[in-house]
Amino acid sequence: MANEFLDLIKSRRSTRNFKPEQVSQDKLNAVIEAGLYAPSGNNAQSWHFTVIQNQEVIRKMNEDLKEAIRSSDNLPEFMLSKMKAAASNEATDLFYGAPTLILVSHAEGGLFSMIDAALASENMMLAAHALELGSCWIGSAGWLFNSAKRSEYLKILQIPQGYSPSHIILICERSGSPAQAAARKENVVNYIN
Ligand SMILES: Cc1cc2nc3c(=O)[nH]c(=O)nc-3n(C[C@H](O)[C@H](O)[C@H](O)COP(=O)(O)O)c2cc1C
Repeated sequence: MANEFLDLIKSRRSTRNFKPEQVSQDKLNAVIEAGLYAPSGNNAQSWHFTVIQNQEVIRKMNEDLKEAIRSSDNLPEFMLSKMKAAASNEATDLFYGAPTLILVSHAEGGLFSMIDAALASENMMLAAHALELGSCWIGSAGWLFNSAKRSEYLKILQIPQGYSPSHIILICERSGSPAQAAARKENVVNYIN
């Protein structure tokens, strides 16, 4: 079925090549508003977004995240060697030089709060794509907030009491057009008629 919104969903891709210039405040506001309009369990809206644009903070987060990955002993086996190798490379920027990071936190103890935060994140990535911005979910950021530096970052990033940082969404001006989607897995739908 031909439909502009369906095409948008299918053409969104994770972006890892960003222009260095900052995304406009108008577009950023629209992206964040799309996140705020996500559905949530019990309408709890149990998310919090921290927009990080301070380049010194982003640089420090990258270094501390790489250190957290290097010293982590709870990486899943399939990620272990790849992640540790990347984190051991001085040139690795796990945020790909993006000038804007949106840290997504969720309310602690909420029954659906992690799901709510994920729904808000997808809304923001789709909105970014609609506005011709690039986006990428950075799940590896979780290691930083589960590391010994957690409390330091709760302070630096002014995370409100009762919220736990989960992951980061990069939202920036992309350079180049989105890549082709990987083939979709088959046999993942069944009907009970
Ligand atoms: C939960 C989650 C965690 C992810 N973590 C990372 C990450 O740490 N670094 C990264 O470059 N991409 C990360 N991604 C992006 C995925 O690699 C990407 O969505 C996947 O390869 C499919 O590509 P597409 O988004 O272009 O369709 C993550 C995506 C999700 C949904």
